[in-house]
Amino acid sequence: AWWLIAALLTFATAASAETIGFSQVGAENEWRTAFSADMKAEAKARGINLLFDDAQGSLDRQFAAVGRFIAEHVDAIIIAPVVVTGWTPVLKEAQAAHIPVFIADRSVDADPSLFVARIGNDTNLEGRLAAAWLAQASRGRCAIVELRGTPGSAPAIGRRTGFAAVIAQFPAMRIIRSESGNFTEESGQRVMTDFIVSTDRLKGVCAVWSHNDTMLIGAIKAMKAAGLRPGKDILTISVDGVPDIYRAMLAGDANASVEVKSDIGKYTFDVVQGYLHGRRDYPKWVVIPTDLHTPQDAAQMLERRYGP
Ligand code: AHR
Repeated sequence: AWWLIAALLTFATAASAETIGFSQVGAENEWRTAFSADMKAEAKARGINLLFDDAQGSLDRQFAAVGRFIAEHVDAIIIAPVVVTGWTPVLKEAQAAHIPVFIADRSVDADPSLFVARIGNDTNLEGRLAAAWLAQASRGRCAIVELRGTPGSAPAIGRRTGFAAVIAQFPAMRIIRSESGNFTEESGQRVMTDFIVSTDRLKGVCAVWSHNDTMLIGAIKAMKAAGLRPGKDILTISVDGVPDIYRAMLAGDANASVEVKSDIGKYTFDVVQGYLHGRRDYPKWVVIPTDLHTPQDAAQMLERRYGP
């Protein structure tokens, strides 16, 4: 009878649905929550049973989550690592349990044979693009204050290194203050308030370089509260391309942002499912492309990525 066939089919689909564990960094800002939402939506659309864990910025919580995924014998594990170091023992544990691991977004400092592939952006390129834009906008003369991301995280390391490599080519470009704002708005605002005090209201400062948009949004608030004019008297350059930065550009408070795609669930699950279904020709790094946006295309970006 048709109902028996339908029931058997449903049972077969449910039985074959993949269970995938995803250990996420946390929910520190708009970019991260958009990434989590995209991963959940993509998994749902594909009928994947996604075990989602929010590590709240703690490496120990990430290790514990991955340990649980291994104990539950999931089909695959995806990790967006808080920081680059410390991963070898837990990756070895997953390998010993024959569970393939995929690194998404941020990278790890571990033997590449311990994971199948990383699906993510080029943080060093992001830093270089940001610096190249600033070199042009300031004609190669600029005293810069830098808001760094989470210490030890791949984007904080890569963006700082890439940016420094480019400004090293310009003798009149230099970073005069640098501090971590942990990728959050609150810390970005606090650190910028300190910079404003320690530099006599950003005297002589030409630009703010922020490792992400969210910290810059906080910094813009601090600058405006001090009667300064970000985006006009002080250039801004940041990374991510979140809706708020395009809004700030349209309001004249921000100048440029390097886009990092947060909707990478499709690319990630394409690789994970492809691997689980037998494909073995993935490169170790599946690169997510990136580019730079300014007020010229801010309205377009806002609409294209986030709707009206
Ligand atoms: O790893 C990507 C970075 O992490 C984003 O640029 C940042 O906003 C997030 O916290």
